Amino acid sequence: MIETLRAAFQQHFGHSEGLRYFFAPGRVNLIGEHTDYNGGHVFPCALTLGTYAVSAKRSDGLIRMYSLNFEEDGVKEIDLFDIAYIEADGWANYPKGVFSKLIEAGMDIKEGFDIVYGGNIPNGAGLSSSASIELVTAVLINEWYSFGVSSVDLALLAQRAENEFIGVGCGIMDQFAISLGKEDHAILLNCDSLSFEYSPLRQEGLSLVIANTNKKRTLADSKYNERLAECQSALDDLRKEVDIRHLCDLTVDKFAQHAYLIQDVTSLKRARHAVTENERTLEAVNLLRDGKIGEMGALMKASHLSLKNDYEVTGLELDALVEAAWRHPGTIGSRMTGAGFGGCTISIVKEELLDSFMKESGAIYEEKTGLQASFYTAGIGGGARELMKEESE
Ligand code: GLA
Repeated sequence: MIETLRAAFQQHFGHSEGLRYFFAPGRVNLIGEHTDYNGGHVFPCALTLGTYAVSAKRSDGLIRMYSLNFEEDGVKEIDLFDIAYIEADGWANYPKGVFSKLIEAGMDIKEGFDIVYGGNIPNGAGLSSSASIELVTAVLINEWYSFGVSSVDLALLAQRAENEFIGVGCGIMDQFAISLGKEDHAILLNCDSLSFEYSPLRQEGLSLVIANTNKKRTLADSKYNERLAECQSALDDLRKEVDIRHLCDLTVDKFAQHAYLIQDVTSLKRARHAVTENERTLEAVNLLRDGKIGEMGALMKASHLSLKNDYEVTGLELDALVEAAWRHPGTIGSRMTGAGFGGCTISIVKEELLDSFMKESGAIYEEKTGLQASFYTAGIGGGARELMKEESE
């Protein structure tokens, strides 16, 4: 990858001295879905797949960007002092958003960059290729300028870029997992306080398998914002009598006592998902810690069913793929991961049955949907970071 990036940099920008290389992973969430913006817990990990960026600082206020994943878009030129969301800029709006939010936060960025991006996260698969390009950009700026901003604050700034510049009201999970990922560990994150702990993930004889439905996530952003509003409406109703800041401040029992306050049936279902999912997440982490992996698998299934029935973000393809996985003898647990509406599933599978798992669940899925799933055994890697620095001559 490094060589490809370097060659592309030389080709498009006509120089390649003193380059610095950065990487930010994608992420997969094991359990704790649609809980982050409800003040609950999530349990994601960073992948070894991710976004690379090679860069050189300029001496003027121009940013030039090129992506190996969108070659047809050519080089994008952006004026550092006039950054605005432009639909036609497509992928480049994500890094633009990061520049804009860092500047807004008071960082003294007066000189731009030449940057070539390239990544191996499948686009639109729900593995956070967007948060990955945001964080690789944030780390790049932070390192070149020696700002010394913490990984947590970089995650928050990248989330702000997504919320305010892109216009998706996402929670903190993706940016946090990508910024603070750790090899072979998942992160239990309290999305309200941002307190977190790492939990070792390697399990003898088991593999983590990501399966892509290859169903494009159409309308995902607008549906996401719709769920956000439904949860907010449930929260507003509950707060008339209960003193809480977030839906996930409630235990399942407490929620059951007060659920009658929620006027709208749909909002009630959304809230029930958030509250039960938060409890499942904490329980799953404890089970994993105690080596009770089978029971954790059962919670993954319960999580999927709640996302299907109460949150309604799964759809034909995700349901078909997890149902095929549940039928396979090698499967410990399987569920959709990420925002939903297409994208990927995550499964824990017995290593010795991995080949037959992919073959058989893939065949059932294809028969049901006419689509071919792609399977990846997920490597769990570290967070966003600088990879290397070339000496200038
Ligand atoms: C997307 C968002 C996250 C989170 C998940 C659902 O990935 O970016 O903040 O809400 O969906 O758990």
